[in-house]
Amino acid sequence: MSSGVAKRKTVTKTPVKRRTTKKKAKPKAVSAKAKLYASLVVQLRSLLKGEYDFIANAANFSALLFNSLPNVNWAGFYFLHGEELVLGPFQGNPACVRIPLGSGVCGVAAAQCETIIVPNVHEFPGHIACDVASNSEIVVPLFDGERLLGVLDLDSPSIGRFDDQDAEGLNELVTVFVAHEEGLGL
Ligand code: SME
Repeated sequence: MSSGVAKRKTVTKTPVKRRTTKKKAKPKAVSAKAKLYASLVVQLRSLLKGEYDFIANAANFSALLFNSLPNVNWAGFYFLHGEELVLGPFQGNPACVRIPLGSGVCGVAAAQCETIIVPNVHEFPGHIACDVASNSEIVVPLFDGERLLGVLDLDSPSIGRFDDQDAEGLNELVTVFVAHEEGLGL
């Protein structure tokens, strides 16, 4: 006889068979940015192949970055001469020629020997404005072993343009570049 209360259906679950074989690890998805940097490594190697003129190679490297990376309005080098950084090959508007170690984003990155990402250059104390269009920046130091050679500097008109993937990709590129130039007495 019905009690008037609807009975809940009881579902008997068939026991789940445990897999005995190990699940294959899913390959990590490669981001578009990682793919772009991987392709830049290939392009840089091909630009450098057989050419050992340092200025020519640095100039082509900066042109490659300037023309391949989206949303970049300046890309180039400052090289260490004594206690200051001196402008090297670059693409973009004319820029300040000499930056003392510890000044601006470039000078701080060089003094601290570390990559610096500045999401908003207007909030960076002592930022040196070379192009009024620049709103964010990344600076990557270049080393020959332990010796600091200078920095690679990229500017963007967009706030927050550069992230850790850019830092990783650019560090790989400068490593390829410096390794190629080794032994040139830089
Ligand atoms: N903004 C840099 C100066 C160089 S330009 O951006 C090309 C700095 O603060 O060190």
